[in-house]
Amino acid sequence: MRIISIANQKGGCGKTTTAINLAASLASNDRKVLLIDLDPQAHATLGLNIKADLSIYNVLSKIAHKKARLKDIIQKAGDNFDFAPSSVILSALEQELSGEIGRESRLNDTLKDFNADYDYCLIDCPPNLGILTINSIRSSDEVVIPVEASRFALEGVSQLIEILNLVRDRLEHEVKFSVLVTNFDSRLKHSFVMLDKIKQDFKGKIFSTIIHVNVKLKEAQNQCTHVLNYDKYCRGAKDYFSLSREIITREVKQPVAQVLEKRMKQLVKEKLPLLKEIVFSVMAADAREVFLVGDFNNWQADDSGRMSKNGDGSWHKRLSLDSGVHRYRFVIDGKWRDDPNNPRREVNPYGEMDSLLEVKL
Ligand SMILES: Nc1ncnc2c1ncn2[C@@H]1O[C@H](COP(=O)(O)OP(=O)(O)O)[C@@H](O)[C@H]1O
Ligand SMILES: [Mg+2]
Repeated sequence: MRIISIANQKGGCGKTTTAINLAASLASNDRKVLLIDLDPQAHATLGLNIKADLSIYNVLSKIAHKKARLKDIIQKAGDNFDFAPSSVILSALEQELSGEIGRESRLNDTLKDFNADYDYCLIDCPPNLGILTINSIRSSDEVVIPVEASRFALEGVSQLIEILNLVRDRLEHEVKFSVLVTNFDSRLKHSFVMLDKIKQDFKGKIFSTIIHVNVKLKEAQNQCTHVLNYDKYCRGAKDYFSLSREIITREVKQPVAQVLEKRMKQLVKEKLPLLKEIVFSVMAADAREVFLVGDFNNWQADDSGRMSKNGDGSWHKRLSLDSGVHRYRFVIDGKWRDDPNNPRREVNPYGEMDSLLEVKL
């Protein structure tokens, strides 16, 4: 799981807009995403119209009336897109944790123990450099710093980078950062001047995607949704989609075995509900070996159908079969025979009887 903080202590530079729309865009690229709202103002929670009794406060607090695990507070925000909400009480955490050992690592400890199958975890940070932002940075591999292409926008970014260095030195945790230019207004000459300055200051550490000013981004937020849902062909949607692609190209390629294992698990999950477990049994107290053969294993008397002997002299075999009518027989010490306990039979091309079993899901 790649963990990415969206951080900048300046308010209104597009953190929440980036968190929501980047999460939705990654999800639309078939990545499984968890977005954590770590801002007590809960703009992302409100912006996605998530109603919650429990929030990330209940996960991080030690004294919360109701302690919760991360998985207990997660809600669905869309396909491939899960959400961990915030609430105003999160602002009490700073004070609550003062003097607490390891208070910078509470979120990191939570995420380390969190055994879920996400490709990405994005964290929307509050507009300050307090304990919540430090927790977020401590648990992240990367930080995206949204910066407006306007006059005072760069003030404070150096402070944030100092915090990244502090986390590296004191907590021995290295975090990469990339600057994202947001709110770019191409009608203004000044925007281009600022863009040049940002490019100079952050050479090699800036996304090539630029997020333009686009009123649809604001409208989507007012409609309590993300921009892909609101108007997927608008400039804002295209910009965030392009950002998601840029982030995806930085994915570390997983070894083939891991990719295959993930695909297999996915397949089993998809197909399992389409199968039903059937237990076949036959009495053959004196037999040495018994096989179940049928159209499901190409009528092969091999290990795929080898039956196990029970204490009472009967033999059994469990199989997961899909719906439909299946034909089968038993091979008892080399002799083929139909199922004596099943009255449904049919003559086969050899003039013998196949037993019939209908599986309904
Ligand atoms: N690219 C953009 N174009 C137009 N409006 C934007 C854009 N990015 C953000 N906004 C608007 O600016 C305001 C502040 O953005 P927000 O993402 O909440 O900032 P932050 O989380 O950093 O405080 C919101 O009303 C949001 O809808
Ligand atoms: Mg915000």
